[in-house]
Amino acid sequence: MMTANEIRESFKNFYRSKGHEIVPSAPMVIKDDPTLMFTNAGMNQWKDIILGNHPAKYKRVADSQKCLRVSGKHNDLEEVGHDTYHHTMFEMLGNWSFGDYFKEGAIDFAWEYLVDVLRLDPKDLYVTVFEGSPSEGISRDDEAAEYWAKHLPNDHIINGNKHDNFWEMGDTGPCGPCSEIHIDERTPEEKALIPGNKMVNKDNPQVIEIWNIVFMQFNRKADGSLEPLPMHVIDTGMGFERLVRMLQGKHSNYDTDIFQPLIQAIGELSELKYGVDEKVDVAMRVVADHIRTLAFSITDGQLPGNAKGGYVIRRILRRAIRYAYTFLNQKQAFLYKLIPTLIANMGEAYPELKAQEVLIEKVIKEEEEAFLRTLDTGIHLLEKTIDDTKANGKTEISGVDAFTLYDTFGFPLDLTELILRENGMTVNENEFNAEMEKQKQRARNAAAIETGDWVNIEDGQTEFIGYDNTECLTTILRYRQVTQKKQTLYQIVLKETPFYAEMGGQVGDTGVLKCGDEVIEVIDTKKENNLPIHITKKLPTHPEAKFIASVDKQKREACEANHSCTHLLDYALRQVLGNHVEQKGSLVSPDGLRFDFSHFQKVTDEQLRQIEHIANAMIRKNIPLNEYRNMPIEEAKKLGAIALFGEKYGDEVRVVKFGPSVEFCGGTHVSATGKIGMVRVISESSVAAGIRRIEAITGEKVEELMDNIQCTLTDLKELFNNAPDLIGTIKKYMDENSELKKEVETFIKEKVAQVKEKLISNAKDINGVKVISSVLPIPAASAKDIAFQLKGQIPSNLFVVIGSIENNRPMLTVMISDDLVKDGLNAGQIVREAAKLIQGGGGGQPHFATAGGKNVDGLSVAVDKVLELANLSIQ
Ligand code: ALA
Repeated sequence: MMTANEIRESFKNFYRSKGHEIVPSAPMVIKDDPTLMFTNAGMNQWKDIILGNHPAKYKRVADSQKCLRVSGKHNDLEEVGHDTYHHTMFEMLGNWSFGDYFKEGAIDFAWEYLVDVLRLDPKDLYVTVFEGSPSEGISRDDEAAEYWAKHLPNDHIINGNKHDNFWEMGDTGPCGPCSEIHIDERTPEEKALIPGNKMVNKDNPQVIEIWNIVFMQFNRKADGSLEPLPMHVIDTGMGFERLVRMLQGKHSNYDTDIFQPLIQAIGELSELKYGVDEKVDVAMRVVADHIRTLAFSITDGQLPGNAKGGYVIRRILRRAIRYAYTFLNQKQAFLYKLIPTLIANMGEAYPELKAQEVLIEKVIKEEEEAFLRTLDTGIHLLEKTIDDTKANGKTEISGVDAFTLYDTFGFPLDLTELILRENGMTVNENEFNAEMEKQKQRARNAAAIETGDWVNIEDGQTEFIGYDNTECLTTILRYRQVTQKKQTLYQIVLKETPFYAEMGGQVGDTGVLKCGDEVIEVIDTKKENNLPIHITKKLPTHPEAKFIASVDKQKREACEANHSCTHLLDYALRQVLGNHVEQKGSLVSPDGLRFDFSHFQKVTDEQLRQIEHIANAMIRKNIPLNEYRNMPIEEAKKLGAIALFGEKYGDEVRVVKFGPSVEFCGGTHVSATGKIGMVRVISESSVAAGIRRIEAITGEKVEELMDNIQCTLTDLKELFNNAPDLIGTIKKYMDENSELKKEVETFIKEKVAQVKEKLISNAKDINGVKVISSVLPIPAASAKDIAFQLKGQIPSNLFVVIGSIENNRPMLTVMISDDLVKDGLNAGQIVREAAKLIQGGGGGQPHFATAGGKNVDGLSVAVDKVLELANLSIQ
């Protein structure tokens, strides 16, 4: 029996023998494509070629790609664990032809590989072909059917609908009919009963799709219509885990050597057996599946977080935790303990896992602990809701409450239901679903983008000339309109561009496009599918004219200084903290830089100063930039260039070297480090478990900071009469100040005691109630103090109202003895009403209340009003 690793290799070997270039998997986390967070198909890394943005280097390629399908158009998350063949992360084996072979070639290769190489029985194979769509003017894919007929009888070739047999990578863009290959793994008895062709796409776990072969021949436009693609593309994707399962003769992907080691480790850790209780099995499958996703995405640089990709990963992590919590009895952090098993199993094929083992474990463990605490809070809240609901004689909790638990505490509905069931209660699911729908709608509204079709002015590819120039004469290749949140912007593609498009942390250039008197502002430059896009608020009047494209040089130079400085800091960090430091994110803007890196403790102030010293010494040395634009990747590695995990590199890379600092980098840089001027780290903090962040400024910004510090210092010195020992002097003042404070406190206490006595002696007796009322220039806190002391001294038949003034702000304080409260007096109500006279508001309890206001002049009238409201007016 072939192992999973052998099967992966056999696929690559087969396609290599058919003239395909075998390429490495692209990272699973996508960093520079605003349309996609994670790789969800093997074709993602070829989108720029399929869209015609770049020519194909190889006409035939094949690979095994790490994919994640947990958000957006292709989302299998809820299935995962409940069945035995859907996954969040999976490997997709794929082969591509860019304008080379098409339907016949793709079908023949697939057939040869499955039947001649892997020796699958043709009797078990079924294929589908697109039945056509009269409304879109597309007829049945007879061509594909004809090629399949060379290999299979007609009753193994099945028509499929648009949902299954027309593949689109997004709402717009390249798409086309596809053929899926399905395999029937049922027992001979079952096969005799119902033929396989009746079971295809019927959700039977033993009759499943293994390979999708897409014939890309159309482009879907923004208005929904189709146009032919200039270049025909073959794009195929085979589910590796499913294929392995077939070849290893298992009924579940989880029984293969890809998942078994994990399932066994989960069994040992939880002391439960797989295959006894379906609920436990589902949970084990969820955990085994999700731990792979977590480890691979953390490795590729996507940590769990609160937004975008980070949130997707956090939700997956939480899904795994709650299954483990509920069904595997894991009340403590547990998932991270599976990492060594995963690495033992997959570390050879994916060495990046091994290299980042400590980080992966640390991040997962800390996330687990945090979520388990949240679960605890959620459980307490739910218990309270249960008690309240029971007290009201009901057995159903509201869907709104369940949704709050879900949304705010990450408390999933099924867990809520489970706990409710234990209490003989239910949740109003309709209400819950309605809340969920509302939230989704809100998200949809916020995210809705309307993208128009590209308007072509000229054919051609963009050339980036911004490493050498910040201005050039050029023309527009194409443009389109994009509307989001009612704002209309334009995206412009230029033939030559000096504009750097946001990438690798460095923000996009801004600047102008000039044509005659017309000046169009470029507000940002971004990359989409490897295409630099200039974003403007206006379209030029004559898009077909020639333009001077001109970058805002000042901003660009500031960016360059900060980018080069990031490299120096990266180098210095390794010198001071050690070689475990790895870049985990960065932001380079004209204003400063931010750098996230793996490190497990706080960086001390002393270390930060050391790091700055190293970087500043490199700046003073004025080390010239050594830039290698197209260096073969192996040579770059030999040079010691630092690559990033989770970054996609081609065969040739750009290397940026400043003396001992050597990095793979596409950004723009200063010609020599002296231009950075100086660097200062202005903050150090934690971003996530095991990840620290420093923020720094350079050049003029450091100068500004120094100026500010100097000014503050001069002012301070002047304030203290230019005392030679400034710090000693300030300390002396501080000591004196606290002494004085103490004295004042004692003084106030004495004063309060005197005031109180005076108030008591001036008290009026009205209808048997001791009424104390006065307006005093004392702080509000003292008024409160006096009121409580009075109450302590005179426990019954007491009514106190004090109007106090502190810093010209009036305040009313009312205290009523408990017996009078019982008789119906309410300090809160009285104060609220009387406060209107001092233009203020307030409230409190029935026995004690206060109100602050703005109008000092109204204070004594307000005091009288209090008495009037209490029917205790002093005549
Ligand atoms: N891109 C095709 C898919 O993902 C092969 O199914």
